[in-house]
Amino acid sequence: MSGLFITIEGPDGAGKSSVIKELANIIEANSQIPVILTREPGGIPISEEIRKIILDPKNTMMDERTEALLYAAARRQHLIEKIIPNLEENNLVLCDRFIDSSIAYQGGARGIGEQEIREINEFAIEGRWPDLTLYLDIDAKTGLERIAKGREVSVIDRLDQESLAFHELVRETYLMGLEKEPERIFLIDASRTIEEVTKACYDLIKEQFPGLFVN
Ligand code: TYD
Repeated sequence: MSGLFITIEGPDGAGKSSVIKELANIIEANSQIPVILTREPGGIPISEEIRKIILDPKNTMMDERTEALLYAAARRQHLIEKIIPNLEENNLVLCDRFIDSSIAYQGGARGIGEQEIREINEFAIEGRWPDLTLYLDIDAKTGLERIAKGREVSVIDRLDQESLAFHELVRETYLMGLEKEPERIFLIDASRTIEEVTKACYDLIKEQFPGLFVN
């Protein structure tokens, strides 16, 4: 299989969603490769349905392992229905969150354990790890402040109600992952403007896959 599978990761408020859209435009403008933008949890109807269950503020009684299994199930379906077919078409799949989110949120912050989460997710992805992961790093406080500012009325979902300590654990777990897999995961300082962060992501992709770009 060819194509290229790139994931964008980071704590809440790192600016992933804005960066990823800009990044897709820049890559398409400077290469021949079609870019498919997608996200987790979601990306296709079955996974979007699972996303609604996970993020529903009503579901406060949800067991942590149930939540972890739902993320893995949504990921599996997304991979099979959307990511793999697009890689087989030689496209570049740019995905907002993937397995590293589960390791950081469920494994680290929820305390299930990184290894346990790796195992259920390895079952789900069957070896289809991202070719490259851009980790947008932001400290927990700045990230949460950005989210609060961006919302006029508080459309607070269940996960945003978590404490600062939870988000600090998310970040710590991401940073540990980075140490473990320096050949796949790269840190981008996300405390800068969206334009600067996007450019840093683009430069890194260009450096890793120079053959992709025309200039
Ligand atoms: P979303 O509204 O997509 O937030 P963001 O724009 O920050 O990505 O909600 C996704 C939330 O789900 C986010 O708080 C992280 C969480 N999440 C997990 O806990 N585990 C996972 O495996 C994934 C994919 C997301």
